Amino acid sequence: MAEPEALGEAILALKEERDAVILAHNYQIPEVQDIADFVGDSLELARAAASLDHATIVFCGVDFMAETAAILSPEKTVLLPAMDACCPMAAMVTPGELGLLRSRYPDAAVVAYVNTSADVKAASDICCTSANAVKVVESLPQEQVIFVPDRNLARYIARFTEKEILPWDGYCIVHEQFSLADVINQRRRHPSAEILVHPECRPEVIDSADHVFSTSGMIRHACQSRAEEFIIGTETGILHQFSRKCPDKRCFPLSPRAICVNMKKTSLGKVHNALDRMTPRIMVPEEVAVPARRAIERMLAIP
Ligand code: 13P
Ligand code: SF4
Repeated sequence: MAEPEALGEAILALKEERDAVILAHNYQIPEVQDIADFVGDSLELARAAASLDHATIVFCGVDFMAETAAILSPEKTVLLPAMDACCPMAAMVTPGELGLLRSRYPDAAVVAYVNTSADVKAASDICCTSANAVKVVESLPQEQVIFVPDRNLARYIARFTEKEILPWDGYCIVHEQFSLADVINQRRRHPSAEILVHPECRPEVIDSADHVFSTSGMIRHACQSRAEEFIIGTETGILHQFSRKCPDKRCFPLSPRAICVNMKKTSLGKVHNALDRMTPRIMVPEEVAVPARRAIERMLAIP
């Protein structure tokens, strides 16, 4: 394989040739973040996928993110360079299981976190991300809400709404690892740091943190805050964006073990191969894409 610099140049040339845009999630490895046209959280990337008019989208993230882009832009070629990059939490609920729960609560709305398969989105009323979950739930006329699949995000939403939230029992294997002991240890080591955590964390971690944000929300907060040090309770790949966007702030991981192996599967070599061969391509059958698009677009319509 070529040296990173030559690979970078080859990717840029192929990008022109294919009329492609590279989108990368905040958890991607630094080289991939640096070659991307746009780096962001799930909501920002979904909005970008819906609004950009390139013929090809190279999605450096995990499967549900590329699927969302393909659902929103069926006329574009959406490439997922690491075909096996999946989100284990998204696999924790199936449309069949969701259908059974729905039949028990016929008056409830179903909100699907974007970390779900296209089939589950298709069986839902509306999607949400960590950045807009409370707003989405509050926008619904129903007083009862089935929320899939993340139990921690569901419990977090329940703090801000009068509605009854019926949580699915899924969780993120990365964020579930953070413990109260991690918070106590890091506070002791960095007493003047603010602790920012993701809403996928367990309730006791959220209770002991200073702020709760989506991944990009954390970066925006750190850039604007008067604090100079931050402890970051999410996947460690995000630290690269902190060093780019607020290089004067000092950021420490809540735990160095917080690594999403699936987010690390994308390399510059795989981005190059995807653009060169125009594969692996993500396609969602129309009968699934149509109802799934309705749920995603309903979310995107909320400002
Ligand atoms: P964000 O939408 O906050 O970027 O989170 C996505 C994710 O997968 C968190 O684990
Ligand atoms: Fe899924 Fe968790 Fe990885 Fe995010 S960090 S992609 S929720 S496994």
